[in-house]
Amino acid sequence: MMPHRQASSDLRPCKNGKYRALMPILCGAFALFILTTVPFSFPLESSSAVAAAVFRSQIFASGNLSILSVVPCDLAVGDWIPNPNPNAALPYTNDTCWAIHEHLNCLKYGRPVDGFLRWRWRPDGCELPAFNPAQFLELMRHKAFAFVGDNIARNHVQSLICLLSKLEYPIDVSPSRDEHFKRWKYMSYNFTMTFLWTTHLVRSEESTTGGTYNLYLDEFDEFWTSQMGRLDYLVISSGQWFLHPMFFHENRQVVGCHDCFLNNVSELGIYHGYRKAFRTAFKAILSSDSYKGITYMRSFSPAHFENGLWNQGGNCLRTEPFRSKDSALEGMNLEFYMTQMEEFRRAEREGRKKGLKFRLLDTTQAMWLRPDGHPSKYGHWPEENVSLYNDCVHWCLPGPIDIWSDFLLHMLKMEGIRSAQERVQYDHETELNQR
Ligand SMILES: *[C@@H]1O[C@H](CO)[C@@H](O)[C@H](O)[C@H]1NC(C)=O
Ligand SMILES: *[C@@H]1O[C@H](CO)[C@@H](O)[C@H](O)[C@H]1NC(C)=O
Ligand SMILES: *[C@@H]1O[C@H](CO)[C@@H](O)[C@H](O)[C@H]1NC(C)=O
Ligand SMILES: *[C@@H]1O[C@H](CO)[C@@H](O)[C@H](O)[C@H]1NC(C)=O
Ligand SMILES: *[C@@H]1O[C@H](CO)[C@@H](O)[C@H](O)[C@H]1NC(C)=O
Repeated sequence: MMPHRQASSDLRPCKNGKYRALMPILCGAFALFILTTVPFSFPLESSSAVAAAVFRSQIFASGNLSILSVVPCDLAVGDWIPNPNPNAALPYTNDTCWAIHEHLNCLKYGRPVDGFLRWRWRPDGCELPAFNPAQFLELMRHKAFAFVGDNIARNHVQSLICLLSKLEYPIDVSPSRDEHFKRWKYMSYNFTMTFLWTTHLVRSEESTTGGTYNLYLDEFDEFWTSQMGRLDYLVISSGQWFLHPMFFHENRQVVGCHDCFLNNVSELGIYHGYRKAFRTAFKAILSSDSYKGITYMRSFSPAHFENGLWNQGGNCLRTEPFRSKDSALEGMNLEFYMTQMEEFRRAEREGRKKGLKFRLLDTTQAMWLRPDGHPSKYGHWPEENVSLYNDCVHWCLPGPIDIWSDFLLHMLKMEGIRSAQERVQYDHETELNQR
């Protein structure tokens, strides 16, 4: 580590022509250096605009500077390791949190606590601290946050509410009794959290015969796009609904299908709709006049049926995580992941031109390693007649899905550093282009 006194002069290269080629890298490093070592009262020079920006976005009322020690790190790659303290209290249980959806309440239906809850995610390059509700709520003060997606997105929302419940429960301020549009408010923080349900991100409807969906791939799903305007943050995701048979419409015409087995309609494959749906959803975000928020794409959440499909006796009976070295993402999960990643990168590029930020909440690999994290048969009583008897799609609460909020908090904390880096890099590119 450099001695502390050097920091103030070393900041100058960020503004100094001589070091311009190295600037993005250097300034990123300096910003970090400052964050990790410089005391609160460090006098900011006007020349250190980057550092100042970082400071502004990072310092808040908690008064505890340990948050500033956040380091950049790829959270997506790592391993689940046994929690060193197996008797540590769980962040919440089914008895302390009311937000757990019935079918995700694995403890209630007899799943033993030990085993699946005694692991923690360790990224390869760093330690991911346990979720800190105070930090999250402080960062969200006066903010509006929304989750857009299917039941897995709701799964995440419920996990987050439970993780925050140690500090505060929100009040329900939903506009109606529609379970597909929920809104909660954290009164002490003036923080609003919304859940907007959508199966396919674009306009879609179930066909009259049932089981098949009509997807209007070039039409926004206004149920959620109409609510974007006042949001500061949006987490968008989509997944399993694209496994159903589908008819694809564009310009109000059928252009193809997936699994329709008709001679006069061409089979476009399983990923076609997924790609187009993300493209259209991102278009809605990019073309909005009012939305200026940060968009997180939460990556594909894998299911873990073995020995059969969900309706053919498949189940997930494993009791331990996979090791990353033994189990790479592959097949359909990898293909869904890659498809949405391509659309994400596209949106990210477009967004940069318009000053809209897109971020990746890359949870797929971590969740792929948790075949033991689903309810399986512990989502209902044994004698109950439910359509998804062995649920290997959704995630138990509490459970491994709780790390999605760890990821989210880490990224929110990194946002100040990242924005400053991008600003420097962008200024640099603009300047080069003007030469
Ligand atoms: C600040 O946070 C650290 C780690 O989260 C904790 O150990 C420390 O006690 C906190 N200090 C105060 C003053 O709250
Ligand atoms: C929580 O789980 C326990 C079993 O671990 C069960 O006895 C209890 O009824 C559950 N409580 C709720 C509110 O679901
Ligand atoms: C609460 O937050 C909203 C933005 O989400 C802001 O417009 C409003 O002024 C805030 N209210 C108070 C009392 O600070
Ligand atoms: C395909 O053929 C069926 C009848 O076999 C017809 O109902 C349907 O409208 C046709 N679809 C298209 C897109 O031409
Ligand atoms: C379970 O429910 C389905 C329809 O919901 C019904 O067709 C089936 O007969 C039921 N099975 C049992 C064992 O009750």
